[in-house]
Order: sequence, then C-alpha cells, then structure tokens
Amino acid sequence: MQKHPLVDEILISKAEIIKRCQEISNAIDKFYKEKNIKEIILVGILKGCIPFLAQLLNYLTIECETEYLTVTSFLGSIEANQEPKIARDFDTNINNRDVLIVEDIIDTGYSLDLIIKHLKLKGANSIKIVTLLDKTMKRKVELNADWVGFNVPDKFLIGYGLDFQEKLRNLPYVATANMSKIKNWDWNKH
Ligand code: IMP
Ligand code: MG
Repeated sequence: MQKHPLVDEILISKAEIIKRCQEISNAIDKFYKEKNIKEIILVGILKGCIPFLAQLLNYLTIECETEYLTVTSFLGSIEANQEPKIARDFDTNINNRDVLIVEDIIDTGYSLDLIIKHLKLKGANSIKIVTLLDKTMKRKVELNADWVGFNVPDKFLIGYGLDFQEKLRNLPYVATANMSKIKNWDWNKH
C-alpha cells in the first residue's frame, strides 16, 4: 500500500485493528452478559471515534443504541487543551442506562474526565470506556479505560480517525506523523 507522504511509520495496520476490534467486542459482550445487562448505549466522541466505533458495531452482539458527543480538546493542531468543552450534546435520555464511551485515543485524560462528569449528571447507571489507543504515560488525571485496543508511544499519531488539522482521519491505519514535513504542509499543493 502507498504510504501517505505525511506518514513516518505505520504503527498499526488495518488487519491488526480489525482483529483487535473483534477481540474487544467479544470481551464487551461477555462483560455485560455476566452482569445481566441486556442493552447499552454507545456514546461515541466525535469526530475521531467514527472508524473505530463502526468497526466495533460490526462485531458487538449485545443490543445497543448509538449517540455522539462532540468535544473540542485540541487547540488547532497538535497541542492538547487543558480545558476541553462539550461543543455538541445529544438529547436521548440516558437516565439509569448503561453507557459505553467510545474514544479514539486517551492522552492527558482531560476530555474523558469532563465527559464522565457530564454523563453522570445525565443520570447514567454505569459508565464504561473503550478506546482504540492509549498514551498512558501522558495521563494528567487518574483515569483508565476498561478496554484498550493498543498502547501507543508519546508521539503525534494520525489515521483511523485521528486527525491533523481535521485531515488524515481517512488513513486506514494508525501511523506516526512526519513532524518536519507536517509543520509546513500546504494541503493545496499536494
Ligand atoms: P486528552 O483530553 O488529552 O485525553 O485528549 C484526547 C483527545 O485528543 C483525543 O480524543 C484525540 O481527539 C486527541 N488526540 C490525542 N492524541 C492525539 C494524537 O496523537 N493525534 C491526534 N489526536 C490526538
Ligand atoms: Mg477524541
């Protein structure tokens, strides 16, 4: 496969992601089955969750609904924001319901911290977290995902939902970005 010019190294291939999504979906199904929970609501965190959430939906067998929250957490390009905001909320009533948050990546944890508080206020009965990627060494708040696809190094990543300046979410793999090229990249010239 042709590598995008802004890719430095492909860390996780599409085949690896698909295989891991099958394993995670099975683990999620099993977890709720053992708790005798019959249906859940997935809350995807836009925009990065889309490819991962879609892949999980292929394999989950528990009855589930989907909702989405938009959180603004990155200041423009590659810097994490200490004060993320919920830019778009959903209307579905989740009072007493079992919620599974679907994230692309956990970095500092600031966004998820805010999201969890928000969903608790809405009256969720239980809140679990599944993330495709985890940068555990970057954590600023104590918070762990219940299911993690892959632990990743402290590098700026692109692809499979992860963006740089809203682009590159469509790469079918997770890659490290070429940092020297990306800084002065002109999208119109390529
Ligand atoms: P946190 O609030 O620091 O945990 O940031 C989480 C959010 O930052 C994720 O949901 C992503 O949208 C974004 N993010 C974190 N690391 C990366 C990265 O390496 N590339 C692209 N986006 C990232
Ligand atoms: Mg995100």
